Amino acid sequence: MRNLFIGISTILVIGLGSAGHFVHQAFWWILVGFSPLIIMGFFDILQTKHTIRKNYPLLGRLRYFFESIRPEISQYFIESDLNGRPFNRRDRSVVYQRAKGVRQTVPFGTQLHTDEPGYEWVTHSLYTSHIEEDDLRITIGSSQCKQPYNSSIMNVSAMSFGSLSMNAVLSLNGGAKRGNFAHNTGEGGISDYHKQPEGDLIWQIGTGYFGCRNEDGTFSPDLFQKNAATPTVKMIEIKLSQGAKPGHGGILPAKKNTPEIAKIRHVKAGTAVLSPPRHSAFNDSKGLLNFVNQLRELSAGKPVGFKLCLGRKEEFEEICETIKSTGIYPDFITIDGSEGGTGAAPLEFSDRIGTPLYDALAFVYNTMVNYGIKDEIKLIASGRVMTGFDIVKLLALGADGVNSARAMMFALGCIQALECDSGHCPTGIATQEKSLMKGLDVTDKTVRVANFHKNTIFAVKEILEATGKHGTDDVRRDLIYRRVEENKVMRFDEIYPY
Ligand SMILES: Cc1cc2nc3c(=O)[nH]c(=O)nc-3n(C[C@H](O)[C@H](O)[C@H](O)COP(=O)(O)O)c2cc1C
Ligand code: SF4
Repeated sequence: MRNLFIGISTILVIGLGSAGHFVHQAFWWILVGFSPLIIMGFFDILQTKHTIRKNYPLLGRLRYFFESIRPEISQYFIESDLNGRPFNRRDRSVVYQRAKGVRQTVPFGTQLHTDEPGYEWVTHSLYTSHIEEDDLRITIGSSQCKQPYNSSIMNVSAMSFGSLSMNAVLSLNGGAKRGNFAHNTGEGGISDYHKQPEGDLIWQIGTGYFGCRNEDGTFSPDLFQKNAATPTVKMIEIKLSQGAKPGHGGILPAKKNTPEIAKIRHVKAGTAVLSPPRHSAFNDSKGLLNFVNQLRELSAGKPVGFKLCLGRKEEFEEICETIKSTGIYPDFITIDGSEGGTGAAPLEFSDRIGTPLYDALAFVYNTMVNYGIKDEIKLIASGRVMTGFDIVKLLALGADGVNSARAMMFALGCIQALECDSGHCPTGIATQEKSLMKGLDVTDKTVRVANFHKNTIFAVKEILEATGKHGTDDVRRDLIYRRVEENKVMRFDEIYPY
C-alpha cells in the first residue's frame, strides 16, 4: 500500500514533467488538487506513532475517523431500543419526553421480556390510594440539626462546574428553583452560576476542600463558615467516595485551572491541583463524625451528611458503631452505587471497584436499623435513576430519597455521545468550549430540567397510588418482585432480606 501510494505520487510528478502542453496543464491541475492528500500521505509514511497510517497512507486514516464516530453509528443504526449502554434508547427517550413535556405514553404494550431473568415488577393493589404532592417530600435533619431541610425525594446529584459548562450549571440550578428541589454543587465549589438562579444548593466538600481550603490544601473553617452562610446552601455533603471511582483522587490540570475556576476553588490559577484520595481533616470514623459536628456548628446547624460508595462492610459497621457510641448523628448518608457516572475515571475503577447500589443500599439500611440509628438519619441513594420505577425500587430497599446525575444530563439534552472526558461535548454540557456551550439555551433547558423532575415525581405518585400506599414510608421490599430464573421468582425481601 505504501509502495502503491509512492508509485501514484511519482507518476503524477513525472507526468507533469514529461507531458505535452495540454496534458501538462491537466496534470498540473490534478497535482494542485491532490497535493494536500499527497502531503498528508507522505506525512503518514514519515510519522512513527501509528503503524496503520504508516503501512496504509491516507486509507489508514479512515480507520481513525470511523472509530471516532462509532458511538454515533451504533446509536443511530445498530442499537435496538433495549440494548444501548450505559442507557438504552427507551430510558433516554422517556427522559427526553418528560423533559419536553410531550407524549409520555407507550403504544401497544411492553417491549420487555417479562419471562427472562432480571425482569422486575411492582405488585399493585385492588384498593388504590390517593397521595398528595407533600406526601412525597421529606425532612432532612437529625435532632442535632437546627435548620432541617424540607427536600424533594429526588434532587440533582453532585456534578461540578468545570466538569459541566456554565450553561449546564445555570440550567440545573434554574430547574431546581423552578421545581422546588435541590442541586448538589459537586466537589468543585460554589460558582456564581450555582448562585444566580437561586435554586437550593447542597454544597459538596471533597478532599480538595474547594471553596474552603487553606493555601496548603487543608480545610479552612473560616472560609467554610463564610460560604456555608450563603442563603441558598441548604445542606452540606462531605464526599468520601463516589461509585464510578471509589478510592481514586483527581487532578485539575494546570491548563484547565483558569482564573475563574481558581477563584471559585481558592487555588492558584494555572497550577495543577490535586484532589487526594482521602481527607486530611480526619482519618478515622470518630474524626469523620467530629468533622460532621464541626461543619454543622460552623453552618449554624444546617444538615450535614456524607456520601460514599460502599466498600468494606466492616468499615461501615464501624462508622455506625461510632455514631452510636459518640451520639453524633450525620443528618443524611448518601449511598452511590458502583454503576454511577463520572466525567472521567480509569476503566478498572468504573467497572470493577465498589458495591453495586442495590446490594449496598440494602446492607446500609439494615446496618443502620440494627444499630438503632436509622430514625435520626435520612438515607439517600444514587445510581441509574431514570424512571419512577427506579425510584420506587430504591425506596423499597430503604432509601428515603434519591439523587440523579445522568438523567438530569439527558434532560439538558445529552445524547450519550460519550465524549465527556474529551472536553468537546457536542451538546455543550460537559465542556468549557464557548462555541459548544452556546448551543445550550439556558431558558429552555431550565424548563426541561424542572419538567423532568415534576413528571418523574408524578410517575412515582401514580405507581404508589396503584399499589395502595400512602407515602414513601409505606414502601417495603415485599412490593417488588424479580424473575431470577426462567421459572423462579423472588421478592426483594427474599433477595435482600431485612
Ligand atoms: C459529569 C459528572 C460529574 C460528576 N461529578 C461528581 C462530583 O463532583 N462529586 C460526586 O460526588 N459525584 C460526582 N458525580 C457522580 C454523580 O453525582 C452520581 O453519584 C453518579 O453519577 C450516579 O448517579 P447517576 O447514575 O444518576 O448518574 C459525577 C457524575 C457525572 C456524570
Ligand atoms: S452528550 Fe456530552 S454530556 Fe452527554 S455523554 Fe456526550 S459528551 Fe457526555
